[in-house]
Amino acid sequence: MQRVEGKVCIVTGAASGIGREDALLLARQGARVVLTDLNEDAGRKVAAEIGGNALFIRHDIASEQDWQQVISTTLEHFGRLDVLVNNAAILIPGSIEDTSLETWQKVQRINGDGYFLGCKYAIEAMKNTGGGSIVNMSSVAALGAMPMFCAYSASKGAVAAMTRSIALHCKQKGYRIRCNSVHPDGVNTPMTQALTGGQAIPQEVLDQDPMNRMCAPRAIANVVLFLASDESSFVNGAEIRVDNAQLISGI
Ligand SMILES: NC(=O)c1ccc[n+]([C@@H]2O[C@H](COP(=O)([O-])OP(=O)(O)OC[C@H]3O[C@@H](n4cnc5c(N)ncnc54)[C@H](O)[C@@H]3O)[C@@H](O)[C@H]2O)c1
Repeated sequence: MQRVEGKVCIVTGAASGIGREDALLLARQGARVVLTDLNEDAGRKVAAEIGGNALFIRHDIASEQDWQQVISTTLEHFGRLDVLVNNAAILIPGSIEDTSLETWQKVQRINGDGYFLGCKYAIEAMKNTGGGSIVNMSSVAALGAMPMFCAYSASKGAVAAMTRSIALHCKQKGYRIRCNSVHPDGVNTPMTQALTGGQAIPQEVLDQDPMNRMCAPRAIANVVLFLASDESSFVNGAEIRVDNAQLISGI
């Protein structure tokens, strides 16, 4: 028996980085996976790697219409929804002083509205088929202070607060839907590589330094797999840091 055998999972942002790793790992552990992303070419490649148990859908997470389409296609194709991994997001660096209102609103629209819509429509689908698990990808930026990521930090803080609200709401309604947030520090993906001029440092090199702040996407996917599986049946409304003690040492 694999760890998410037969579960139907949606992973947003599955074309790249953490989302890609989540989709591949969930599929290896027996799930049927709906991969969504704006990046169609890369998303279809990941779905092809998985094979028959995968479906790619082009999806802008900030669009309510797209979410309705993703959920209805998932139900048509696989008959149910057990897991939503709200993972796609954007990072636009900037302190309070150099972030424009336009940038602020763009970040909140994708990282905030996008996760709200995902939760809203996933709950509607899951509550009629016995429950499920929602995993919201937040960040240590939601918990500590990162002066250079003002809009991003606020969006990830909103995701964490929304996660707690949803967890308690679903518990009180008796839906058997759990909702948790994951808070990585640095993950070696195109998002962080873009901050350092697109240079990918080999993970083996990073791993040689016990003080390094960059983990491989697999370290996050392992946590997502646990939260998606029934092994985490009593973990609900939790904020799971995956940061090698960085937050408690002062970020
Ligand atoms: N990489 C890190 O260090 C790090 C740290 C903490 C949290 N996170 C979070 O992890 C998640 C994944 O990050 P990553 O590092 O894998 O990033 P990434 O840039 O490698 O991948 C993000 C994916 O999301 C997609 N995407 C962006 N906007 C979208 C939209 N509107 N609709 C649909 N898809 C969209 C992109 O096309 C891309 O494929 C994000 O929520 C990010 O905030 C990352």
